[in-house]
Order: sequence, then structure tokens, then C-alpha cells
Amino acid sequence: MWTFENPVEIRFGKGVFDSVGDIIRGRSFCLVTYNESYFKTLANRLIGTAGKPASIINNITPNPNFNTLTESCRQFADSATEDMVIVALGGGSVIDAAKVLASSNSGFAPVREYLETGAGEKRLGAYPIIAIPTTAGTGSEVTRWATVWDTKSQKKYSLSRHALYPTHAVIDPELMLELPRELTISTALDALSHALESIWNRNSNPVSANHAVFAATEIMKTLPKLVNDLQNLELRSRVARASLFAGLAFSNTRTALAHSVSYPITLKYQVPHGLACSFSLPMVLASVVGEDDTCDANLRRIFGDDLDKAVTELDRFLNGLDVSTKASSYGVQVEEWKELLTLALSGERGLNFIGTHERVMENFKI
Ligand SMILES: NC(=O)c1ccc[n+]([C@@H]2O[C@H](COP(=O)([O-])OP(=O)(O)OC[C@H]3O[C@@H](n4cnc5c(N)ncnc54)[C@H](O)[C@@H]3O)[C@@H](O)[C@H]2O)c1
Ligand SMILES: [Fe+2]
Repeated sequence: MWTFENPVEIRFGKGVFDSVGDIIRGRSFCLVTYNESYFKTLANRLIGTAGKPASIINNITPNPNFNTLTESCRQFADSATEDMVIVALGGGSVIDAAKVLASSNSGFAPVREYLETGAGEKRLGAYPIIAIPTTAGTGSEVTRWATVWDTKSQKKYSLSRHALYPTHAVIDPELMLELPRELTISTALDALSHALESIWNRNSNPVSANHAVFAATEIMKTLPKLVNDLQNLELRSRVARASLFAGLAFSNTRTALAHSVSYPITLKYQVPHGLACSFSLPMVLASVVGEDDTCDANLRRIFGDDLDKAVTELDRFLNGLDVSTKASSYGVQVEEWKELLTLALSGERGLNFIGTHERVMENFKI
């Protein structure tokens, strides 16, 4: 028995950015974006086709945290009206911040209480979101959750509610042409990680697996070409589409061990999310091969019949993008890495992983 659900209406292709006005349909809207010159240009283009927003919230920084979100929610409360739509124009940090704003209610306090205690969902808001991703990685445009970081207490929270599925995802690969090499790599590796993590996952199902196999195969084939040809729209489109498919896959399974172990590394060593959740993929792969027939079959569709070679192939792929697959390269010490892995396996995402502690330790790599 399995089910698959995703309610997001998707528009994909060069130029779809200019059709956002058709989705807003004259409603009052709040634009959420970064305070950067490229995004000011994009905001002006949007205003030209969709009209003026009731408010613009642009204090979004990478990895939205309690402090910046408190300020964003305060600004949002000043202009929010009941029929308002939130338009999120940016990467995962912007889309996730938009999900927090959509849940806010006269400020951040009820969201914070819900994150910290799990209580008070009825007090949360539920504004509709139109998500326009400008990175190809997080898949947040088709998921129902937002990652929220409490940098002061060194904690990562997941705000997860059905109401947070954006109503629309507008994916225009042309908006991604200016992404620099490093960000292109780290964000695409986030997508690769979503795809693989949804395969070695207790919640995997035939639809998620199909999306994941497509996404992982495509990223491994296309990303090495894209990093040497960043302005190539066709390659950008293929990676953006693969990221979307990875998003659809893990929207129904959530992630697993590689993500679970990444959060403390991002918090402690400031490693960008996409690198933190992907450098351990070869080690996690080595520990899961042979654990489950369906998982093995899906991995063979990506890596070919000989799964013994898959670990080396994935390792080479990452090294070829100048990404080290050793935890020590990111500052992690031997005992700390063992402890982090053990803790991660019993964490919420780690419990989705179909492998075992024993096998992970057998394949331990630092
Ligand atoms: N909700 C989910 O399902 C989900 C999944 C994975 C990750 N996340 C979260 O998403 C966040 C990371 O998001 P991200 O990786 O998309 O990066 P990001 O949104 O943090 O942006 C990183 C940088 O990329 C730049 N940038 C974005 N688009 C650009 C473009 N088109 N051209 C030039 N520069 C551009 C921004 O200026 C910013 O400085 C993390 O907080 C992570 O935890 C959420
Ligand atoms: Fe991720």
C-alpha cells in the first residue's frame, strides 16, 4: 500500500516569470526577496507585469533564523490583509522565510511557540504562497515545510504544515543564469541529496522513486557540464527540472541520514546546506547497498548493475566538483563525527534511513 500527494500547480520554462501576474489575479501581495541588486532588478520586472506589491520584505539572509524572522514577521504584520498572497522570489531561504510569514499571526511569537513546543497550530496563519525559486536545489517550492534556524541555541527546526505547500511553483531557469559556480554546485548537490535520500528511505514509494531516479541521474550527467558553461540555458533548465523532480520525490518521503547529520555541521562550522548534506553521500551509500532489494534496484537504475562501483563513482563525481567527501575537511574531528552519526541515526530524519548503525560504522570515513 502506498500513497503519493502533491498539490502544487507547477509552471516551468523560460519566461514563465512574466506570467506571475496571471496567478496573482489582482490580489494584494507581499513580495519576499533578498536585499541584493540582482533581486531589485527582478522585483522591478515583476512589478512591471504584476503591479505594485502592498509590501516588500527583503531582509532575508541565508538560513533564516529567529532574529531575522522576528523582524520580517513584524514588517509583514504592518501590511497584512486577509486576502493577501505571498510571492517568494529567491532560493530556499526566501521560500522558507515566506512559509514562516504565511504562518505568522501579528508577529513571529506564535510560530516560535509552535516550533518550540508543538502547541498552538490553531493560532497560526495560512496565507497562500507563490514560490519562484532562483536556485535549483532545495525543492522548497513543492514541499510543505520550512527549515528554521535558531543560531543562538544552535538548533534547527522544521516548520511542517499541509497549509505550507505553495499554491504555485513558477520555475524559470533563465533567472538562474547568474548563479555563480560555487552556489550552482552546492544547491544542485542539495537536490542530488534529496533524490538519493528519498530512495534509501522508509517512506519511499514507486512515484517518489521514479522522480528520484530521474533527478539523480540527470544531476550526475548534467552538473559537470553546467559548471563549465554557467550561462547555458539548456543545461540550467535540465538541472532546474531535476531539482524540481527531487523536490517532488522527497516532498512525500522527507530526507534521511545525510540530512540529519548535516544540520549540526551547518550550525557549528557554517558549511552551506547543500555541501553539508552531500559530502557524506558516498559513505551513506556504501552503508546501505544490500540492505533492501527495492532500494538496490532503484540505485542500479542510477549507477548501473555493479553497485560496488557506485560508491567510487559518487565519490569521483563529488571530488570532480572540488567537493571533499571527508568530514575532516569541514572541521569535524574523529570522535565528534562518530557521535554526530550516532545521534543523527536516532534523529527524526535519521529514523527514515533504511540502513543500520553497524553498517554506517563499518563504512565510517573521516
Ligand atoms: N523547505 C525545504 O524543503 C528545504 C529543503 C532544502 C533546504 N532548505 C533550506 O534552504 C536554505 C538554503 O537555500 P538555497 O540553497 O536555495 O540558498 P539561499 O536561499 O540561502 O541563497 C544563498 C545565496 O544565493 C544567492 N542567490 C540565490 N539565487 C540567485 C541567483 N539566481 N543568482 C545569483 N545569486 C543567487 C542569494 O543571494 C544568497 O546569498 C537553507 O536554510 C536550507 O535549510 C529548505
Ligand atoms: Fe536539503
